[in-house]
Amino acid sequence: MTKHTRIDVAEFATRRETLLAQMPENSVALIPAAKELTRSRDTEYLFCQDKDFYYLSGFHEPDALLVLVKNFGDESILFCRDKDPHQEVWHGRRVGPDAAQAEFGFDLTYTLDELEQVLPMYINGKDTLMFAQGANKEFDELVFACLNILRGGAKQGLTAPSTIVDIRDLIHEMRLIKSPAEIAIMREANVISGNAHKRAMRASKQGVFEYQLEAEILHEFAFNGARSAAYGTIVGGGENATILHYTDNEEVLMDGELVLIDAGAELAGYAADITRTFPVNGKFTKLQAKVYNLVLDAQIAAFNTIKPGSNFAIANQAANEVLTKGLYELGILSGDLDELIADKACKQYFIHGLGHWLGLDVHDVGDYQVDHDRNQLRAFEPGMVLTIEPGLYFDSEADVDEELQGVGIRIEDNILVTESGFENLTINAPKSIKEIENAMRSPKKK
Ligand code: GLY
Ligand code: MN
Ligand code: MN
Repeated sequence: MTKHTRIDVAEFATRRETLLAQMPENSVALIPAAKELTRSRDTEYLFCQDKDFYYLSGFHEPDALLVLVKNFGDESILFCRDKDPHQEVWHGRRVGPDAAQAEFGFDLTYTLDELEQVLPMYINGKDTLMFAQGANKEFDELVFACLNILRGGAKQGLTAPSTIVDIRDLIHEMRLIKSPAEIAIMREANVISGNAHKRAMRASKQGVFEYQLEAEILHEFAFNGARSAAYGTIVGGGENATILHYTDNEEVLMDGELVLIDAGAELAGYAADITRTFPVNGKFTKLQAKVYNLVLDAQIAAFNTIKPGSNFAIANQAANEVLTKGLYELGILSGDLDELIADKACKQYFIHGLGHWLGLDVHDVGDYQVDHDRNQLRAFEPGMVLTIEPGLYFDSEADVDEELQGVGIRIEDNILVTESGFENLTINAPKSIKEIENAMRSPKKK
């Protein structure tokens, strides 16, 4: 285990072996690390490793390349930055190829300086080349330069692969089913994130800025081992809650309004993705409570469908029925209830999907459809982790009670599919009205 991973080196090696076992005979796969991204002039954003590369290597540095060779004997090879005392004084430590081989379990390692010369030799003579063509222009150019060398070297006995296949399909199917070690990290990321939501609730009051609640969230993450958020934290007071990906977080919170926070920690590369909506002043109005409980009932109805063999369509149907019936009873939807349910009439106010896979990425990888029939009919399996996040959004012009105009409510938890049903990983973020109001009443944390 390295300090960056919290997952044993042997598990990364097993992942590479599992992928190699699925690759065609006489093939080579290339999986590049991420590059640093410039923020402005000579400053960079906090580095985020490419998640496919990380999943297979556990290696945390930019610019590296993982090469998997499936031949008579399988091989895992890493190209990485060389040790360089001068660069390391300015920009930070580097593992270097020797320690990378010893500590990360690769069969062979090279420096990046050797890439141009050595990489074509690993591609030479293979029938199939596997990489994410089109995902990264600079890497495409490197690969096609290698192919050109091979294609121009017939006299020297060089041959280029005749087939190029996207490696991501195989990796993403593997990533969809989480191992016990991954689940343990995601459970912890959820505990940290749940406490962060509680902390933000306690800090909420009229006059606080949205970004100040964001600061409470990030503080709780960092003081519990999670350096950063898994995605841009959303703190939307009042009407800002109706903007789904609102991250400006620049306005002041007002008495009587609700505030929606969608925030999750990234822990050892894995994301939590939790949303809570609560009153700025700690007390729901009667109407706010009614609509809040409707969203909560929809979430619970969706949970109750989750087990192996179920799917997002079934969960959606359950949530849509509850929301449509509830909106009808509130007088927001009118007509024939059965027809409204059949028409999924709630979608007028429930304007996004019910949930998504969760893992190393917040919107994690893996197919949603079987045979791409567009019905989201892929059966849930033990080890999948997903979000369930119903919401209702009434813009300022919506044909609803004035008190509900400009109100957005979303409740989002992270769910592990188990052999017998599901486990809600989001256990400690206050959620019922009583839990939220109690948390907001208790003495403020310093
Ligand atoms: N935080 C993004 C989402 O809930 O999908
Ligand atoms: Mn989500
Ligand atoms: Mn979210």
